[in-house]
Amino acid sequence: MTQDELKQAVAQAAADYVAQHAPAGSVIGVGTGSTANFFIDALAPLKSKYRGAVASSEATRKRLEGHGFAVLDLNDVDDIPVYVDGADEIDRGMHMIKGGGGALTREKIVAAVAKTFVCIADGSKLVETLGKFPLPVEVIPMARAHVARELAKLGGEPVLRQGFTTDNGNLILDVKGMAITDPVGLETRINQITGVVTNGLFAVRGANVLLLGTPEGVQTFA
Ligand code: 5RP
Repeated sequence: MTQDELKQAVAQAAADYVAQHAPAGSVIGVGTGSTANFFIDALAPLKSKYRGAVASSEATRKRLEGHGFAVLDLNDVDDIPVYVDGADEIDRGMHMIKGGGGALTREKIVAAVAKTFVCIADGSKLVETLGKFPLPVEVIPMARAHVARELAKLGGEPVLRQGFTTDNGNLILDVKGMAITDPVGLETRINQITGVVTNGLFAVRGANVLLLGTPEGVQTFA
């Protein structure tokens, strides 16, 4: 199977999960990226069952609207039973690195509201230790150099993502060379640097369910 076929398989499994676990009339949280895009396509036949969706990025909002979903402002939503999103890496403790697509802050906000975070990923994303994938950090533009110096003090090698501005008008530093043995501690530490909006470690609030695409089928971890 190709990587896209694995992503499509987990996307369909996630749509099935939503159909079983999200009550009719509820609001679905939707992540960002190529796997999340396959999920939106798989969820489309169910759209009339739900009040609508909350999008974690402008790209996701556009794709949802293209399928005829009502896309709601998170401030008008009290609860989200299920949030479905991809990851750049996930470990066996359900901690993730996210933000390869630069949507980490809105993803983290929607995930914070959601009751259940369902991570959808092809098998290549499951790792023993997080950190091979450079850790994205969203930064207020005037703090870029300060935050980069502070990240270097933590042992990382921050690289400015060229030509990229987040949906929130900020910059991304991709931090290479971090061996992340304490994901919760590092997420908390980086978020304390003045000028950081948030970082791409999703460890304090990790995934609750992992749907992992493998050539043998979709494996479920919970
Ligand atoms: C975007 C993300 C994505 O979930 C992550 O980059 C995975 O993307 P893909 O499904 O395309 O591999 O965090 O900010």
